[in-house]
Amino acid sequence: MFKRVLITSGPTREPLDPIRFLGNRSSGLTGMNLARVFLKKYAAEVVFVSGPVCRYPSGVTLVKVETALEMRDAFFKYFSGADVIIMAAAVGDFRPAGSSQQKIKKAGFPLVMKLERNPDILKEAGERRTPQQLLVGFAAETENAVKNGKRKFLRKNLDLLVINEISAENPAFGAVRNRVTLLTADRVIPLPRRSKSELAAAIAIQVANLSIMRKNRGVPRE
Ligand code: C5P
Repeated sequence: MFKRVLITSGPTREPLDPIRFLGNRSSGLTGMNLARVFLKKYAAEVVFVSGPVCRYPSGVTLVKVETALEMRDAFFKYFSGADVIIMAAAVGDFRPAGSSQQKIKKAGFPLVMKLERNPDILKEAGERRTPQQLLVGFAAETENAVKNGKRKFLRKNLDLLVINEISAENPAFGAVRNRVTLLTADRVIPLPRRSKSELAAAIAIQVANLSIMRKNRGVPRE
């Protein structure tokens, strides 16, 4: 049983002006199903840091955010007390440099928008994590999924990477079913196309297995 599982979920919204934003198609469904399965079977507490979505899980410590910067702040408030950390959010990689205080008018085109980088929360989590914490990241790949995934796994100092294999037939984002491959330090586990609740259950089993293996080994990871 884990004490606290920290999950990021959903999209982020980066404001352009008071009413418009840059966002993405994440529905937050995978994160919500992960929250449910961990709460039901594996965790005393689930902290759920989520961008704006239609439905949120019940029974969690819910922290609603909009932007990547807000998500980062909320995430690191709960980070050190978490034994499992799952980053399922589709965090926007960039934001408009200085959003307008007033609604942007139709005049003055072409309109040029400057973008700046958002923090990579997962990368920072990989740098700050302790050997006792289990860190799970997600990736969306359209080609060379396993090869690219292995690089990401090492670069971000993860224990488990969930690779969404994006194609016309498997859009993943906003879809009800999804096909993923799970990557650990020593295993590549392709899963068949499944509902997101079945996928969440499979991910939770892997996390529980990793935790048991680590305890059995008794050696903290470098
Ligand atoms: O490198 P890439 O953006 O493909 O990595 C995706 C993973 O990183 C996901 O787990 C996502 O939640 C996380 N991420 C993040 N902060 C960002 C971008 C992605 O935590 N700014």
